[in-house]
Amino acid sequence: MKKLIAGNWKMNGSQAMTQDLLGEINSGLNGALLDNCEFLVFPPSLYVPTALKNNGPYMRVGVQDCSVHESGAYTGEIAAPMIKDIGCSHVLLGHSERRQYHGESDETVCDKAKAAYVQDLVAVICVGETESQREEGKAFDVVGEQIAKAVPETATADNTVIAYEPVWAIGTGKTASADDVAEMHSFIREKLAERFSDSENFYILYGGSMKPENAAELLNTPNVNGGLIGGASLKADQFLAIAKAAT
Ligand code: PGA
Repeated sequence: MKKLIAGNWKMNGSQAMTQDLLGEINSGLNGALLDNCEFLVFPPSLYVPTALKNNGPYMRVGVQDCSVHESGAYTGEIAAPMIKDIGCSHVLLGHSERRQYHGESDETVCDKAKAAYVQDLVAVICVGETESQREEGKAFDVVGEQIAKAVPETATADNTVIAYEPVWAIGTGKTASADDVAEMHSFIREKLAERFSDSENFYILYGGSMKPENAAELLNTPNVNGGLIGGASLKADQFLAIAKAAT
């Protein structure tokens, strides 16, 4: 199984930055990296067309969210058929920033994933506990419930990627220890195994302050099949160094 190295640019960038950053990353993708990793990027939606012109042969492009609806009077929303139409392969769903600032529930995330499946898009579904939930010893209950409710019954290893992102590690410089990550990823694998016959083949990514310095340890932790990288995905050298750490 290759490692999936995914960049989440969040609400950062410009047309010029999209072109430059993808150009720099593409020119750094050599044989060893391509043998060991797959690459994916989630730019802001407005820059997706620019990304699709500059992504080269190896970088897939996704959108950071989608509507549960196919079309209609939903101002500001982007529908899964549009994401397919423009040429994307993936959609990021249930990121903690969407859950926190837009009140997205597991049920909504589940409906969005189903909308994505109709278009043959791969749903990258994010789960993760907050700091207080971890301190209260509830991390496994919270993540278990998110997996149970946000991942549709029709999920398969082909149409779904899980991203474990402890909320307290996102953008904070704090990362979960390799032991904690190993424990949570094996728990997620078990939860998937209760429902899906192809659970062994699901990609489970770790996200939260992944950077070149901690990437080798995190990416070589059992059941960690790649990374969802925020801040460090905005710099070509850091993104490439993380991929190199996976090899
Ligand atoms: P970070 O973000 O790498 O900046 O912590 C990760 C994410 O939110 O996907």
